[in-house]
Amino acid sequence: MDTSGYHYVSTGQTSTVDLQRSAMLASNLGRERLKPDWSNPDYLLYWHRTRNFRRCLQRLPGKPLDILDVGGRIQPYRPLLETRINTYVAIDPQMEGLVDIVAKGESLPLKSRMFDFAICSQVLGYADNPQHIVDEVLRVLKDDALFFLSVPALSPRHHDERWRFLPEGIEVLLKHFRNVEIIPEGYSVAGVVRTLNEGLNLNSKRALMKKILSRVVFPATNWTGMKMDKLVGHSERFTANYSIIAVK
Ligand SMILES: C[S@@+](CC[C@H](N)C(=O)[O-])C[C@H]1O[C@@H](n2cnc3c(N)ncnc32)[C@H](O)[C@@H]1O
Repeated sequence: MDTSGYHYVSTGQTSTVDLQRSAMLASNLGRERLKPDWSNPDYLLYWHRTRNFRRCLQRLPGKPLDILDVGGRIQPYRPLLETRINTYVAIDPQMEGLVDIVAKGESLPLKSRMFDFAICSQVLGYADNPQHIVDEVLRVLKDDALFFLSVPALSPRHHDERWRFLPEGIEVLLKHFRNVEIIPEGYSVAGVVRTLNEGLNLNSKRALMKKILSRVVFPATNWTGMKMDKLVGHSERFTANYSIIAVK
């Protein structure tokens, strides 16, 4: 792939040791998201997202792929692609070990029609302008290329998040894509359980409480949430997160 269009917005002053350490941390976080443990407050989302990502993989062509990961500081799904990668370009405003280009998704320093597949997982919630990121992804994808997106619909506020997304809004964002498939990452019971899990997790400051939550509470709520979500039916009123698969 011709990479002459890359423009490194900023490489920061981070040392090699810092970069190695942050790459290791990011890999560990990625593993937790790819194969979550029952003790994880986000188990119900991650479990569904991995399943949805695998479904997306079945639609990718068999040839070696040029892949873009927008907000790719942590790359949970990369291990599922490993044998199919020609190039993997991770772009993120934060310079860390796994990032190739430091830039915002709203203005990708890349030529048009470069990629066979783009991933943008849990990024739009932080964006200055989610529509600009989606439009930039559309620009840099080749014709008929696939886009995997995941976005929050319902979640306790944390960090510097700005947005939540509902199916009707997602359709507006992706209006220039075709075959847009919006897949809930669990239904209402899973959404409520995960939202409570996350609220408890964010509000518990003491080490003992964190231990009780991860060893006792979350395994129980996650297991019950998983079973009840299947039993109670397919209401999306409280769905917490969506995966989206779309074609350029
Ligand atoms: C919750 S993390 C998600 C990381 C990873 N994609 C995943 O699914 O685990 C959000 C990431 O989006 C990045 N981010 C925030 N604003 C962004 C923007 N405007 N363009 C691209 N990435 C952004 C953050 O730096 C962070 O790495």
